[in-house]
Amino acid sequence: ATTLGASAAERGRYFGTAVAANKLSDSTYVGILNREFDMVTAENEMKIDALEPQQNQFNYANADRIVNHARNQGKKVRGHTLAWHSQQPGWMQNMSGSALRSAMLNHVTKVATYYRGKIHSWDVVNEAFADGSSGGRRDSNLQRTGNDWIEAAFRAARAADPGAKLCYNDYNTDNWSHAKTQGVYRMVQDFKTRGVPIDCVGFQAHFNSGNPVPSNYHTTLQNFANLGVDVQITELDIEGSGSTQAQQYQGVVQACLAVSRCNGVTVWGIRDSDSWRASGTPLLFDGSGNKKAAYNSVLSALNNG
Ligand code: G3I
Repeated sequence: ATTLGASAAERGRYFGTAVAANKLSDSTYVGILNREFDMVTAENEMKIDALEPQQNQFNYANADRIVNHARNQGKKVRGHTLAWHSQQPGWMQNMSGSALRSAMLNHVTKVATYYRGKIHSWDVVNEAFADGSSGGRRDSNLQRTGNDWIEAAFRAARAADPGAKLCYNDYNTDNWSHAKTQGVYRMVQDFKTRGVPIDCVGFQAHFNSGNPVPSNYHTTLQNFANLGVDVQITELDIEGSGSTQAQQYQGVVQACLAVSRCNGVTVWGIRDSDSWRASGTPLLFDGSGNKKAAYNSVLSALNNG
């Protein structure tokens, strides 16, 4: 096929992008979005600070602009994210203990209930593991409510929307030999053993020279899939340009295609100028919306490789 979404669909997968609500009035942006992608993640609009700016007062306006646009165009939606140490509203940042635990679970329940039936996969918990060599949890106000906060969030999400796939999502978990990857792996293994409702693991896949695409990427994805969960590449971007960048993108897509439980790939923005990175050219379209070499290599991998 001739677009990312249609080509991925022929392989039984989706191809998505992060979308910002304030760009839905940009016709170049929307043209590429509508043509190329069949899955959408809100880049910021479904985070805790956006949806619950005051405690128990929810504002779904910007999130709904994205969800409605996607659904009207026949695209699926990935929910990002129900519980996270970052982008918490001020009232939540100042909470702790059982009050914070209750507020977090209330947020999970209310938001997952509001969107019940409309979300393909939820990032239930985002970035809960520490960087570095410990392989343990990241310290945060949520972690200090008790080590079981993650499974509590997953149980609340399952009760609120039994039809959505429930994912754990993190970055720097791509290299199988990294302690963080191993820590997440052990948590998922433990959840599956004890029947905690988890369906998928998201690999953010923000790559650059300090964090290159690992040669063992396929191994990482396959090992997680072997635990009995789906795997998804959720926030892909790769610093660089030209044929080097194109080859790296192709390698990531091929790694997903090689794992039957890898459901799809989402890139973290459309044009280079839409990227969260302050500088650089990490995406598939240039600032004018032209297809880059990386686009062509991804399309070719989806169709041939
Ligand atoms: O909307 C305000 C604007 O009104 C204000 O003038 C401006 C001044 O700084 O800030 C704007 O908000 C910014 C927002 O992006 C929208 O552009 C925030 O400051 C900025 O912090 C926020 O950054 C987002 C970042 O998450 C925050 O953690 C990025 O857009 C978003 O791409 C990024 O996404 C994360 C994923 O959620 C999780 N994984 C890593 C990924 C990349 O960091």
